[in-house]
Amino acid sequence: MREKVKQLIENATEFIKNSENVAQINDLRVKYLGKAGEITGLLKGMKDVPADQRAEVGKYVNEARDKVTAMITEKLAQLEQKALEAKMMKERIDITVDNVDANRGSLHPCTLVIDEVLDIFTNLGFKVAQGPEMETDMFNFQLLNIPKDHPSRDMQDTFYVGEDLLLRTQTSAVQARTMLNTQPPIKLVCPGKVYRPDYDATHSPMFHQIEGLVVDKHVTLTDLKGLLDLFAKTLFDSETKTRFRPSYFPFTEPSVEVDVTCAVCHGKGCKICKGTGWIEILGAGVVNPKVLDRCGIDSKKYSGLAFGLGVERIAMIKYGIPDIRILFENDSRFLKSFK
Ligand code: PHE
Repeated sequence: MREKVKQLIENATEFIKNSENVAQINDLRVKYLGKAGEITGLLKGMKDVPADQRAEVGKYVNEARDKVTAMITEKLAQLEQKALEAKMMKERIDITVDNVDANRGSLHPCTLVIDEVLDIFTNLGFKVAQGPEMETDMFNFQLLNIPKDHPSRDMQDTFYVGEDLLLRTQTSAVQARTMLNTQPPIKLVCPGKVYRPDYDATHSPMFHQIEGLVVDKHVTLTDLKGLLDLFAKTLFDSETKTRFRPSYFPFTEPSVEVDVTCAVCHGKGCKICKGTGWIEILGAGVVNPKVLDRCGIDSKKYSGLAFGLGVERIAMIKYGIPDIRILFENDSRFLKSFK
């Protein structure tokens, strides 16, 4: 009997040692300690052992049971630990690895320009206002002194959605909306998308504008000059000079177009400025008194100045982009260069 138990322990030790996973260990537990298991069988057979040997046999069978139980428990813990380690290795994240190409996006050049321009004006105390991209004829044209059938409508080709509804051609529409429900002093900039049916290297049917409006007592063309000169020097560099040329807009009188010295050649003349040394960046003027009156502001008490710039045009000058269409092709190689 003792020999048999000794053999059993030896076999069990070997099996347990060689088992490779939890399932195999569980099989061994059943084999030795289960209801019909070998050790359980020995314990059941105790009643047949002669009474004088029972205590001794009982002792080593119990020892065998304890030993096998302990070995199984230990092996199981080892296997579980190993499984956990393997799982952790598999899920391991090496936080020390650098240069992971996570393909992060970058801000679009138009967004960069919009942010920069708004920064300059909000630092000067301007508020930012926005309005709908689909506008009524009233806000986009009539309140801005562009009556129906007036020849000045030819200045802006338009996408009509209905008789009186259109995709706005200028964010000046937001200025009209604001003046109608705000009394001066007003200082505001309006960024947003505008639409005109043009398409070539310098025109896109959708583009972005930022227009500005100041209405207060004693606002003059001199204020406009000072403001836009400061703006140009901040946006480009402090050496930048501005030049104001007479122009025409129905909503401003007098009207001007503003040029800056070419950011590339600093006024010497190059391909970008077509040899002139100057680049036009915006339209502006003193708000036509008719517009103030039409929008509910007393033009005898107040005067205003307004300006409007094309965001794409500024981006093209600032970043040397030759064709406006590149801005909307969403070619990631182009966009990545602005990271
Ligand atoms: N709204 C004009 C345009 O889109 C620009 C402008 C704004 C001109 C304000 C003068 C004053 O062409």
